[in-house]
Amino acid sequence: MSTSGRDAIENLSREDRVFPPSAAFAAAAAAGPGIYAEAEKDWVGFWAKQARERVTWFTPPTVALDDSKAPFFTWFADGELNVSYNCLDRHLENGGGGKVAYHWEGEPGDMRTITYADLHAEVCKFANALSDLGVRKGDRVALYMGMIPELPVAMLACARIGAVHTVVFGGFSADALADRIQDSSVKVIVTQDGSWRRGNVVPQKASADAAAGKCPTIEHIVVVRRCANEVAMEPGRDHWYHDLMTGASPVREPARMNAEDPLYILYTSGTTAKPKGIVHTQGGYLTQVATSHALVFDIKPTDVYWCAADIGWVTGHSYIVYGPLANHTTGIIYEGAPDMPDKDRLWSIIERYKATIFYTAPTAIRAFMKWGDEFPAKHDLSSLRLLGTVGEPINPEAWMWYHRNIGHERCPIVDTWWQTETGSIMITPLPGAVTTKPGSATFPFPGIGADVFDEEGKSVPFGGGGYLVLTRPWPAMLRTIYGDPDRYVSTYWKRYPGVYFAGDGCKRDDEGYFWLLGRVDDVMNVSGHRLSTTEIESALVAHPAVAEAAVVGRSDELTGEAIAAFVTLRAGIKGDADLIKELRNFVSEKISPIARPKSIVFTDDLPKTRSGKIMRRLLRDISEQRQLGDVTTLANSDVVHAIADMASAAKQD
Ligand code: PRX
Repeated sequence: MSTSGRDAIENLSREDRVFPPSAAFAAAAAAGPGIYAEAEKDWVGFWAKQARERVTWFTPPTVALDDSKAPFFTWFADGELNVSYNCLDRHLENGGGGKVAYHWEGEPGDMRTITYADLHAEVCKFANALSDLGVRKGDRVALYMGMIPELPVAMLACARIGAVHTVVFGGFSADALADRIQDSSVKVIVTQDGSWRRGNVVPQKASADAAAGKCPTIEHIVVVRRCANEVAMEPGRDHWYHDLMTGASPVREPARMNAEDPLYILYTSGTTAKPKGIVHTQGGYLTQVATSHALVFDIKPTDVYWCAADIGWVTGHSYIVYGPLANHTTGIIYEGAPDMPDKDRLWSIIERYKATIFYTAPTAIRAFMKWGDEFPAKHDLSSLRLLGTVGEPINPEAWMWYHRNIGHERCPIVDTWWQTETGSIMITPLPGAVTTKPGSATFPFPGIGADVFDEEGKSVPFGGGGYLVLTRPWPAMLRTIYGDPDRYVSTYWKRYPGVYFAGDGCKRDDEGYFWLLGRVDDVMNVSGHRLSTTEIESALVAHPAVAEAAVVGRSDELTGEAIAAFVTLRAGIKGDADLIKELRNFVSEKISPIARPKSIVFTDDLPKTRSGKIMRRLLRDISEQRQLGDVTTLANSDVVHAIADMASAAKQD
C-alpha cells in the first residue's frame, strides 16, 4: 500500500494470483511474446506492416503516420480502400462465400444463418437502395435499430457507398435520436417497426417519427419489419426495407474511399454535457481493429466468436462488425435480454453454436454472479477456449467467477481496456503471451504507448497510481469531435500537452501491470487520500455475500469526503446490521482502514447507463440528499428512487 500521500491516486490493493497461459494455448497462439519487442523497434513500421498484410487496398498507402498537424493525426492518408470490400468481397473472391458470417438468434427464439455470400448480396442491394434514395458519399445516415442482421447490413451498405453511418442505440429515446440527427445533419434514418425488449414490443418507428418531426434534414425513413406492429408510414418519406430490397440489384461496385474519409460517427453518451460525435475514419481504423481482433482473440478459421455487446456501442462496431468480418470470422448475434426466457439464455446459445470465444462486460458478469452458479452449470460450455471483458474495471472476484464458472479454469481471460475514442482495444493481454492477473488489463497492445502520470505530468513509478495517458498516436484513434475540433483538442490534448488524456485513473504494480481505477471524476478525497472507487468496490465484491458494489464520496465535516457504499447481495442472502458491520470491517482489513465505508446501503440493483456502467453521479446526489437530476438516460430509472428511500433511512457511522 502506498502511504506517501504524493500519489495522484492511492494504490490500496494487492493481487497475488497469476494465470500464465497453458503451454498448449501458447504454442498455438496467433501472437507470442516476441511481438512486443518487434513492435517497439519501430512502432509506426509495425502498423504499416499490419496495414499491408491485413487490409486490401485499391491504392496502397505510401505514408503511415503524419503528425505534422498534431493532434489532428492522419494514418495511411494517400491510401484508397473500401471497408465493405475488405469485410465481404475479398472473402468471396477467395472462395469463402459459403462460410457463416453470423448465427443470429432473435429474442423470441427465431434463428437465421447468414453466410458471407448472403451478407454480400444483401449489402449490395441495400447500398443500391440507399443510393436510389439520394444518399451520396459523405452523407450521414442514422441507424436506429436493435440487434437484427439488417443493422450490420446497413452499416456495410453505408461503407460501400461512402456514406457515414451514425448508429444510435435502439433503446435511446426520440429526443436522444433527434439530438444526434441534428448534430450531424442526418439525411436518412434506417429503423424498424418495433423491437423486442424482454418479451414486449417497443415501438421503434414511432420514436423515429417523433425525432424526424424535429429534424428538417430528414428526407427518408427506411423501416425494417421485425415485430409486425402497426406503424404509420408517411408516403414519399417512409419506405419498407423489404420493398426497397425486392427491386434492388445485388451488384454494386464498392466506392474508392480515401483512408482518411470518415467511416462513422458514434456519439458517446455524455451524462451531463452534450454528447460528443466521435469521428472514425477508414484505413487506420480497419487496420487496427483487424489486427487487435486477430491477436487479442487469437482468431482461428474454425472459431465461433461471440461478442455479446450491443452494436449500438463501439464494442459492437469494432468487434461484432468490422474486425471480425475483415478477418472472415464466424460470429453470433443475439437480439435480446440475457434472462429471456430464463437466466440461462446466453449459456444455451454458447452450447447450441459451440461458441469458442465469448466477450462481455463486467456488469453482465456481476449479474450472472448474482443470479447464481446453477444457470451456466446446466449447459455444456466445453467448446469455449477464450473469454474477454470490456467496459469497466473488472473486480478480481468477478474475474475469478468468470474463470471458474464459464471458463472452467481452462480459458484465458482478456480484460481489454479501450474507449469509443480509441476505436480499438489498447491495453490488454495477448492470451498466448501474457500471464494475467485478475483485475488487471495487463499491458499496452504492441505498438501502443501508455503511461501513468501524476498531476504535473510526470510518469508515476511502478507501485503508484495516477492518470492514464496514451503517449503515441494510433491508427484507429478518433480524428475529431464532429463539428467541434476545439472540444477535441481541449478534452483530450490540453491536460498534458502532446499526450492523450484518457480520463481514467490507473496504477501500475511492481511488475508494470496496468490496473484501471475508474473515471477520474469518481475519485474520492478522504482525509487527503485520493481513493479510487474501483479498489473499494472490488474489496466489497470479494466478500462471498456480495455480487456488486458501488462507492461514492459524500461530504463529511471531519474527513472532507466519506465513503458511502451501495451493495447488491447474491441471490438468497439477506442484508442486516450485522452484515453491514462485517462488510465495513472486511474492507478495512482487506485494503486499509482509510477505505472503510462510512455507510452501507443494500439495494437490489444499481443505477446504470444503458451500456451497463454504474452511474456514480446519481449515487452521489442520493448520498448528498440532493434533488435528483434527469434519470431518463438510465437503463433502470426506478432503482434510484428506491435507493434514495433506503439511503435516507440508513445513517451509520
Ligand atoms: O473508464 C473506462 C471504461 O470505459 C470507458 C470507455 O467507455 P466507452 O467509450 O463507452 O467504451 C466502452 C467500450 C470500449 C473507459 O474510459 N473501460 C472500458 N474498458 C475497461 C474500462 N475500465 C477498466 N477496464 C476495462 N477493461
